[in-house]
Amino acid sequence: MWVIIMRLKEQKLEKIQNDQVMERAVGEENYDIAQYKANSRYKVLVVDDEQGVLDSLKVMLERSGFKYKGFNDPSNALEELENDASYNILVTDYFMEPMHGDELIEKIRTFNIKIHILLLTGYKDQAPAIETLKRLNIQGYCEKSNNFDQLLLWLYSAVKVLEQNKDIYTLMEKATTQNEVISELNKSLENSYSSIIESLRLTVDAKDEYTKGHSDRVSYYALKIGQAMNLMSEELEILIVGGYFHDIGKIGIKDHIITKETRLTDEEFAEIKRHPEKGFGILKSNNMFKKILPLIKYHHEKLDGTGYPEGLKGNQIPILVRIISIADSFDAMMSKRTYRDKLGIEKSVSELKRCSGTQFDPEIVEVFIKLIDEKWDKINEEVEEINRKLANV
Ligand SMILES: [Fe+2]
Repeated sequence: MWVIIMRLKEQKLEKIQNDQVMERAVGEENYDIAQYKANSRYKVLVVDDEQGVLDSLKVMLERSGFKYKGFNDPSNALEELENDASYNILVTDYFMEPMHGDELIEKIRTFNIKIHILLLTGYKDQAPAIETLKRLNIQGYCEKSNNFDQLLLWLYSAVKVLEQNKDIYTLMEKATTQNEVISELNKSLENSYSSIIESLRLTVDAKDEYTKGHSDRVSYYALKIGQAMNLMSEELEILIVGGYFHDIGKIGIKDHIITKETRLTDEEFAEIKRHPEKGFGILKSNNMFKKILPLIKYHHEKLDGTGYPEGLKGNQIPILVRIISIADSFDAMMSKRTYRDKLGIEKSVSELKRCSGTQFDPEIVEVFIKLIDEKWDKINEEVEEINRKLANV
């Protein structure tokens, strides 16, 4: 019952106040032309189940420059907003039938997040909870019990916000377009960069007939070990790419040192030992190689700290590096070199065992040897396939 009484009081007050606002609006001679022009860019939809309120607001809004459309029935207003996305501002009553203002707004927010919303309420204690205002992204509420000056002021500030939002949306749209262009450019740069690095890598392998296909095989062995260790797909990818590029630094080593058939001098060996750091230097500036850098730089480190370039020990050497190091040495042993024949599978395996714990991580050696014991025929067949594919490169 009290709601009905309040409602009647509210209606009476509204009528008096609307009349006052109308009198004042019509009597004003110096209203702001700039504000009028700004307002004229915006469409306001008003929902109120009282025709009197709609009539008053129509006069007031149109006189202030706004494009106005009013609805008595919230369902019709909802339909209008669904069909026409060009409305900028919604002014809606709170207590309405067949649906209340908050219910109407909840529905509108499912398809329109941009529209500015002002809720007209009766008295302060009838205002919706602040959580509701926040949740439904309602920009403000105005008590009908005051007068419509408050509403007009709110509409002016809404116009300011909308003007600013328009700039922000324009900037955002521009930024999205620019980001798309930049990401396309980056993609094409990455592609061409990858091609350059790929050809550098093949050049390294081709520098010496004896190392042809080495990087591809290291990549393959490392992947097999990683899979047997149940590593995650991201880690497996690092092993594959790391294997391909681990010796990229040899591009910076003189050909006659790499292809020398006799024993290297101390200076020449010192020069060869610089290839991990040279490789690191070549790839470090490009973000796409960031994750494989440790594999490039440390693949000649040994578990006992006697490797190079930094003499890292044990767990200081990342696990993926320890895998690459085993794959690298195994392929070297299984390949013919200028100064020796290939060792063959049995000797290579016994060499892995001999160096397990000093040069190599014993647990990884164990995984790899188990893999060789169980699947050597298949592995060997796949390695031969890699060699066949690379024969004509
Ligand atoms: Fe190397």
